[in-house]
Amino acid sequence: ACGSSQSSSSGEGDGAGETEKKEKLRVVTDAAYAPFEYMDKGEIVGFDVDFVEAVAKEAGYEVEIVNVGWDPIFVEIKDEIADFAVSAITINDDRKQTYDFTSPYFLSTNKILVPEGSDIESAEDLKDKVVAVQAGTTGQEAVDELLGKNSSNIKKFENNNLAIMELTSGGADAVVADNTVVEEYVKNNPDQKLVVIEDADSFAAEYYGLMFPKGSELKADFDEAINTVLDNGKYAEIYTEWFGS
Ligand code: ARG
Repeated sequence: ACGSSQSSSSGEGDGAGETEKKEKLRVVTDAAYAPFEYMDKGEIVGFDVDFVEAVAKEAGYEVEIVNVGWDPIFVEIKDEIADFAVSAITINDDRKQTYDFTSPYFLSTNKILVPEGSDIESAEDLKDKVVAVQAGTTGQEAVDELLGKNSSNIKKFENNNLAIMELTSGGADAVVADNTVVEEYVKNNPDQKLVVIEDADSFAAEYYGLMFPKGSELKADFDEAINTVLDNGKYAEIYTEWFGS
């Protein structure tokens, strides 16, 4: 905010009319990934939303979280249109070449979602199946590796809800996505008779981070604030609210 004007060319209301308030940061997300970020009665809600609001408050910034969709997140951060992104984004070497990440705030791994009674029991079993994924995610990467990048059995969707719809409508045999997301989906949609395969070793551990433009001067403030909310009980409070103890 103060003094650093490396972004905010978005035209999004950045504090016009507010008196002696810091500029609102533009934070982009793909709000189709419950329980991390999703739309509820026209509002973006989720664990990530509460987390970012707590961290921003600690760091002394106001944030406006904007639902732009998954691919546009990367464009906006690369072009420094948005200040940072929160979207259950996995920190990995590939992304680190183009973006800066905070320290990790959530542990995740990919898991396989299938209809009850499916003969798929492990990642190996996906090799001759049709698999739906959200394009450009680590889930897609994992499936690319198993089935071959150019396999026509990989169906790629703009968001994860569309991938799950492909599964429930019979157009795919499985979905691969972040464990918390598919587990939450099964829990909230018992009528759809889906299950998550407990195949612990197939996919690597991943960590989510907040994603900033390379060289962003804001990131240090957020790293410090993340440490604080991890230490002072605020993170635990938000975690319990969303996931129980
Ligand atoms: N963690 C995975 C990744 O970074 C999936 C994240 C998808 N997030 C979302 N809001 N759709 O590739």
